[in-house]
Amino acid sequence: MSDNLLTVAYIAASALFILSLAGLSNQESARMGNVYGILGMIVAFVATAASSAVSNYTTLLAAIIPAILIGAFLASRVAMTSMPELVAILHSFVGLAAVLVGIANYLGDSGLSGVEETIHKIEIYVGIFIGAVTFTGSIVAFGKLRAIISSKSLLLPGRHLLNIALLVGTIYLGFPFMEAQGSLGIQPLLIMTGLAAVLGLHLVAAIGGADMPVVISMLNSYSGWAAAAAGFMLSNDLLIITGALVGSSGAILSFIMCKAMNRSFISVILGGFGQGAAKSTGSTGVATPQGEVETINAQATAELLSEAKQVIITPGYGMAVAQAQHPVSEITKILRERGIKVRFGIHPVAGRLPGHMNVLLAEAKVPYDIVLEMDEINEDFTETDVVLVIGANDTVNPSALDDPSSPIAGMPVLEVWKATQVIVMKRGMASGYAGVDNPLFYKDNTQMLFGDAKKNVDAILSCLKAVSSTESVLAGSR
Ligand code: TAP
Repeated sequence: MSDNLLTVAYIAASALFILSLAGLSNQESARMGNVYGILGMIVAFVATAASSAVSNYTTLLAAIIPAILIGAFLASRVAMTSMPELVAILHSFVGLAAVLVGIANYLGDSGLSGVEETIHKIEIYVGIFIGAVTFTGSIVAFGKLRAIISSKSLLLPGRHLLNIALLVGTIYLGFPFMEAQGSLGIQPLLIMTGLAAVLGLHLVAAIGGADMPVVISMLNSYSGWAAAAAGFMLSNDLLIITGALVGSSGAILSFIMCKAMNRSFISVILGGFGQGAAKSTGSTGVATPQGEVETINAQATAELLSEAKQVIITPGYGMAVAQAQHPVSEITKILRERGIKVRFGIHPVAGRLPGHMNVLLAEAKVPYDIVLEMDEINEDFTETDVVLVIGANDTVNPSALDDPSSPIAGMPVLEVWKATQVIVMKRGMASGYAGVDNPLFYKDNTQMLFGDAKKNVDAILSCLKAVSSTESVLAGSR
C-alpha cells in the first residue's frame, strides 16, 4: 500500500474512533458507537498490515492469529460482572507492550543523530516509564477486582515520601541514560523500569474502598498515554492519535468520577482515600449486627408495590450478579400499567464498571427516560412510597454522609432511607465492595428481602401477575 493511501486509511480510522467515542457517550447511540470502533480497528489493522513497514507476514500471522483466538475466547466467555477485571488485565498488556517496544527500540539502531536522537531517547524513556507504571498498577487493580488482593488500601508509613523517592530516582537515572552512547544506557533504563514498576504497584495498592472505579479509569488513561508513547517510538501517527484519544477520554472520565464521588483527583492518584478501617466487618465480610433487622417476603413486597403511588428502584452489583434485570423490567411494566410512577436511581459507581446498570437496564428494554442519575433523583426520595434496593449496598450506605471515620465518608449516595418504606434485596448481611457495614439495614423503615435477587424478583413478578389475572377475571365477570 502506498504511503498516501496509508495516510488516508489512518485519517479514516481516526475519524471512526472519534465517532465511536461520540456514540458511546449516549445510551441510544452506544451500539452504533461500538460499530464505528470495530470498523476503525479493522481499517487500522488492514492498512498497517498492508503498509510498506510490514514485510514478514509469517511472524505477523504467528503473533496475531493466536492473539485473535485467545481474545475472542476470553471476551465471549467473560461475565458482564467480570468485565472490569478483563479491562484491567488488558491495560496491563498495553503497559507491557509499551515497555517492550521501548527497550527493543533502544537496542535497535534508530539511525538518528543530534537533536532527533535526543528526542527519540526522551520518547523511549518516558514511554517505558508510563508503560511500567501502567503494567504493574493494572495487575494490582486486576487482583483487587478479582478479590485475590484485599480491596483495602495498603498504607505504608511514609508512603508519600516513598512515591517521591521513586519519582526522583527515575528522573535521576534519566541523566546517565541520556548521556550514554549507543545502547550503553540500558542499565539505567532497566533500573528506571524497575522503579516505575514499584511505583505503579504502590500507587494502586494504596487506593482502597470504593475508590477503585477512579483507579480503573485512570489506568485506562495511562494505557492510552503508553500507547501514544509507543506511537512516537514507532513513528506511527495512528497509534499516537488513538493513544491520545484513550488517554484524554480516560482522564476526563476519572475527573468526572472523582467529582461524582466527591474526591480530590490528586488525592486519589496519590492514594490514601478509602483508608479507614472497615468497621464491624470481619474477615468473612459479614457485618457484626448493629441491631435487629426486619424481614419481609416476596408476597408482602408485591402488595406494598401495588399499593404505592411512587416507586424508585436502585439497582447495584447484586442485580448484575443475579441477572435480575429482565424480571425487574417486567415488574416495572406491570406497575406502570397500573398507573404507579416507577423510576430508577443510578449511582455513578453502582456495579463494577461505569454505566454498568444503564447497560443492563437498556438490555432489558427499560425505557431510558425513567432511568435517572443520582443527582436527578436524590431529592425525590422524600415523596416516594417504596424504594426497592436490588443488590446495592455501598451506593445506598448512609454512613457515607453520617460517619466521618467511614472509608466511604464524603461519597454522595442515593438517600433511599428518606422514603416511606425501603426494601433491601440481598442474600445475607455481607458488606459491599468497600467492606463497610451498612446502617440502612437496621433502620425502622427498612425491611430485608433475603435471597438471590433473581429468585426474589421472579417471585414478586409472579405475585403481581397473579393479582393482574385475578383483576382481569373479575373485570370480565362484571
Ligand atoms: P456493592 O456495594 O458491591 O454491594 C453489592 C451487594 O450485592 C452485596 O452486598 C451483596 O450482598 C449483594 N449481592 C451479591 N450477589 C447477589 C445476588 N445474587 N442476589 C442478591 N444480592 C446479591 O454494590 P453497589 O452498591 O453497586 O456498589 C458498587 C461498589 O463497587 C462501590 O463500592 C464501588 O466503588 C465499587 N466499584 C465500582 C466500580 C464501577 S466503575 N462501578 C468499579 C470497581 C468497584 P450479599 O452477599 O449479602 O447478597
